[in-house]
Amino acid sequence: MRRVYLDNNATTPLLPEVREAMLPYLGEEQFGNASSIHHYGQQTRAAVERAREQVAALVGCRQAEIVFTSGGTEADNLALFGLAKAGDHIATSTIEHHAVLHSAKRLEALGCEVTYVPVDGRGLVDPDDVRRALRSNTRLISIMMANNETGVVQPVEEIGKLAAEADVWFHADAVQAAGKVRVSVPQIGCDLLSLSAHKIHGPQGTGALYVRKGTLLEAMLYGGRHERSRRAGTENVAGIVGLGAAAEIARLGLEQGEDQRLAGLRDRWEKTVVEKIEAVGVNGGGAPRVPTTSSIWYDFIEGEAMVIAMDLKGVALSTGAACSSGAIEPSHVLTAMGLSPERARASIRFSLGKQNTAEDVDYALSVLPEVVGRLRELSPLYKKHSAISTQHSAPTRIG
Ligand SMILES: Cc1ncc(COP(=O)(O)O)c(C=O)c1O
Repeated sequence: MRRVYLDNNATTPLLPEVREAMLPYLGEEQFGNASSIHHYGQQTRAAVERAREQVAALVGCRQAEIVFTSGGTEADNLALFGLAKAGDHIATSTIEHHAVLHSAKRLEALGCEVTYVPVDGRGLVDPDDVRRALRSNTRLISIMMANNETGVVQPVEEIGKLAAEADVWFHADAVQAAGKVRVSVPQIGCDLLSLSAHKIHGPQGTGALYVRKGTLLEAMLYGGRHERSRRAGTENVAGIVGLGAAAEIARLGLEQGEDQRLAGLRDRWEKTVVEKIEAVGVNGGGAPRVPTTSSIWYDFIEGEAMVIAMDLKGVALSTGAACSSGAIEPSHVLTAMGLSPERARASIRFSLGKQNTAEDVDYALSVLPEVVGRLRELSPLYKKHSAISTQHSAPTRIG
């Protein structure tokens, strides 16, 4: 059976070039501790610093401003816990990834105050709402650049400006934006920005936090003086090398118009779904989005059932729903945008990676209508809906 992977926001396959770059650091020659001063340590130190240069080039900062972490989650945690203390106020949004939302909740338990700024029906934060949320004790604004479920890109430059005017630190979670759209930290005006390797065809378990020079960030891990005392622990050299290689490939891809190619595939998907299938809609369709993500609701369908049915046809997609304690919770992102719990549960995310081709999209499109039709046939609500629409359309047809 043909298999097509369209869940690249969950994780992306490691590119062969990235694997090649990593292999020497997984063998018997280049294994030194990057803190050792002998030949072996010098070799891995040089590799780590080369990767730092590659990551800095992707987001337009200085090498010394990149702190390597174990992934996007740690980068988000470091940004929030590294800046906020009891008594501080934080402004974030209702649609952040749980790496930020659950950190904010924990900070509330530790004595911080948090404002969760809402989004509109397109999934966009209004910078004026962020401005209005600011207080005399606001220490940090944390707003994501691109949402992982909808791909909606937030007005981070405007938020950067207002943060600078108010003299408040600004963290942007760019895990789903970096490498997919141009990300320039000087342009955004943020003090902190999170990245993750496995969303850009690098290895899982590696990421980075951009920390603008002069940001008063406190370390979360105590130990050696690694990463200029901002993140203790012997470096994951192979992972860091993989992140560097993936960052460079992503940067060159953007220069060569890879984003345009993927936007074309995303548009092909959305246009065909909307044309061929009734009672569907694109979440965040009216907002600026990264080219790699499309979230569509299919009324009268349970998202989980659709993911399983598509998987049986060889197509890997995803729901926006998180499974907690056995119950399927509707996505906090989609409900924050005003979707009913039913429509949020009926939403399916399609997300592209570098490996995807037009043939992949066409294959998924060739099996989708039948899957949707079959699942809808099982829905009593759909039967009722079809009966009503047939009654309504009958006079027109006869006429
Ligand atoms: C927006 C966003 N932030 C943070 C993370 C966490 O990154 P990681 O999986 O590297 O911990 C993810 C992962 O899905 C994400 O989509």
